[in-house]
Amino acid sequence: MKIVPEMTGALDLAREIILVAMTREGLIGAGNRIPWHVPQELRLFRRLTLGGTVVMGRKTFESLGRPLDQRRNIVVSTTLSETPGITLCRDFPGAVAAAAQMGGKVYYIGGREIYRLALERAELLRISWISGNYAGDRYFPAFDRNHWRLATAKDYGVFVHECHLRVA
Ligand SMILES: NC(=O)c1ccc[n+]([C@@H]2O[C@H](COP(=O)([O-])OP(=O)(O)OC[C@H]3O[C@@H](n4cnc5c(N)ncnc54)[C@H](OP(=O)(O)O)[C@@H]3O)[C@@H](O)[C@H]2O)c1
Repeated sequence: MKIVPEMTGALDLAREIILVAMTREGLIGAGNRIPWHVPQELRLFRRLTLGGTVVMGRKTFESLGRPLDQRRNIVVSTTLSETPGITLCRDFPGAVAAAAQMGGKVYYIGGREIYRLALERAELLRISWISGNYAGDRYFPAFDRNHWRLATAKDYGVFVHECHLRVA
């Protein structure tokens, strides 16, 4: 693993975190599914988010099919009805406020619009870069790389997991 030592403390301190798996082209989804099947990446996602709050858009929630266990689930939607196991928020600021009230770490887990809004405020951007070429229809939003500095990178073989800390 590559590490920038003076930045590792800041990784632990980050409270609002974006978590995404994407290809080098920025692909994140296909037909409301994840385009690849990489169990090790799913295990990493679970390990990182357990005990925290996950914030997601309505389509990502429908794609998952159920609330994520052992995590506080916030779903952002203007159309969804109250659903057991989730906190429903009608807009993004409402989701941010609800997550702050719950305390603990907040993971923004997609999709595209949630990522776009979270890029304005998250302190840590965790990206799993998936190798290979896949077809799909959802891409991570363009973002200014100058606002982020690479702190760590770990090679898992089929993907590389990078932590980027906000610098601006
Ligand atoms: N690779 C990854 O790490 C990853 C992570 C997550 C998702 N995905 C993939 O991405 C795709 C789903 O993402 P998506 O971008 O299509 O949809 P999404 O963000 O999950 O859901 C979009 C919906 O969320 C609600 N929403 C989003 N922003 C909102 C806002 N600011 N205010 C109110 N409501 C808001 C709206 O619901 P209403 O229409 O109900 O108002 C909107 O239609 C799937 O293919 C999924 O598998 C991949």
